[in-house]
Amino acid sequence: MKVLGIESSCDECAAAVVEDGKRVLSNVVATQIPFHAVYNGVVPEIASRKHTEWIYGVVKEALDKAGIGPEGVEGVAVTAHPGLLGSLLVGLSFAKAFAWARDLPFIAVNHMLAHLYASRLHVEGPVPPGISAEVEDRGSPPEASYPFLGLLVSGGHSIICRVDDFDDITVLGTTIDDAVGEAFDKVSKYYGFGYPGGAVIDKLAQSGNSGAFRFPMPNLDKGGNRYALSYSGLKTAVINQLEQFRVKGTLTAPNSADGAADIARREGADIAASFQKTAVEILLRSLFRAAEDTGLKTIVAGGGVAANSYLRTRLAEQGELRCIFPPPDLCGDNGAMIAGIGYRYLARGERSPLNVTASARVGGFKRRYP
Ligand code: KG4
Ligand code: ZN
Repeated sequence: MKVLGIESSCDECAAAVVEDGKRVLSNVVATQIPFHAVYNGVVPEIASRKHTEWIYGVVKEALDKAGIGPEGVEGVAVTAHPGLLGSLLVGLSFAKAFAWARDLPFIAVNHMLAHLYASRLHVEGPVPPGISAEVEDRGSPPEASYPFLGLLVSGGHSIICRVDDFDDITVLGTTIDDAVGEAFDKVSKYYGFGYPGGAVIDKLAQSGNSGAFRFPMPNLDKGGNRYALSYSGLKTAVINQLEQFRVKGTLTAPNSADGAADIARREGADIAASFQKTAVEILLRSLFRAAEDTGLKTIVAGGGVAANSYLRTRLAEQGELRCIFPPPDLCGDNGAMIAGIGYRYLARGERSPLNVTASARVGGFKRRYP
């Protein structure tokens, strides 16, 4: 069954065709990054306008690349939550219209569950430009059998969960404040490294010394919060360090002609590497605890931060746990993961009504901490 998947929850306008929930026939992601970069963050109004302008062309390209016309689509899946409401509504309305016009089975899905599903997709062809050579692990990743531990890390979420099926997760730990991707983005914004911060810091960190600065790990294990995460303390500490550079006058002079430019470059790379190391160690500490307590030995990652090369290397280095990542270009938002998980629901006979609504938030993804 060929399913068209549509994703418009944030700043990627995306559509894909996936066969039988596995084989990616096309995957088109039109990024709005240049439109938001000037504001150092996603502007919701601009995002929904761009989705409105682009959605038709993106879906058309996804069908063309899959070598089918609208009549070749056998089911339609779309993100309904969580995300920016105005953006979600564009994809949702388009998907409903497509399904209604062709009388196709239709399913509205959860974006975070779809991120977790991304590791089950099989992509053929060369790695797209911009993906680092070290993480070229394309092809068919090994399928994890349930149950396993899920690590969902994106711009809006940081979740450690037990996964019993593609639609059945139990949240063990979440962030009590900022999401890990958000911390990457904020640090990058304050230091002027670029937008969005994750990929920029990942790259910059490769030439930096991760031991150059020591940033604090949050102390969260009081009260039994063994899997809780927190990023606001780290973010504040890294941003406060900027003040020290200002006093010294080094990092703030990246364009000066003398040796100051080199110092600025080195200090920037050291900050990136030291921050990234701490951000990943915070994740791993809780993840390893969850693995130990549950006895689950397989970890499946998903979400934009799952593309992080340091996270991937750290998990590959340890010998105890089996770690499965999506191909790097399927870690961020894309339509293939939506089509993939959508197929699973459709194959089970589930359908969403055509009056289903979008929602910015979704229940079941938070944990209350005392
Ligand atoms: O899953 P995603 O594309 O969108 C959301 O659902 O939020 O995740 C976006 C987040 C951003 O915060 C971005 O900075 C981060 O993923 N990200 C990364 C990397 N690539 C993207 N974070 C760390 N390292 C990366 N290589
Ligand atoms: Zn996402």
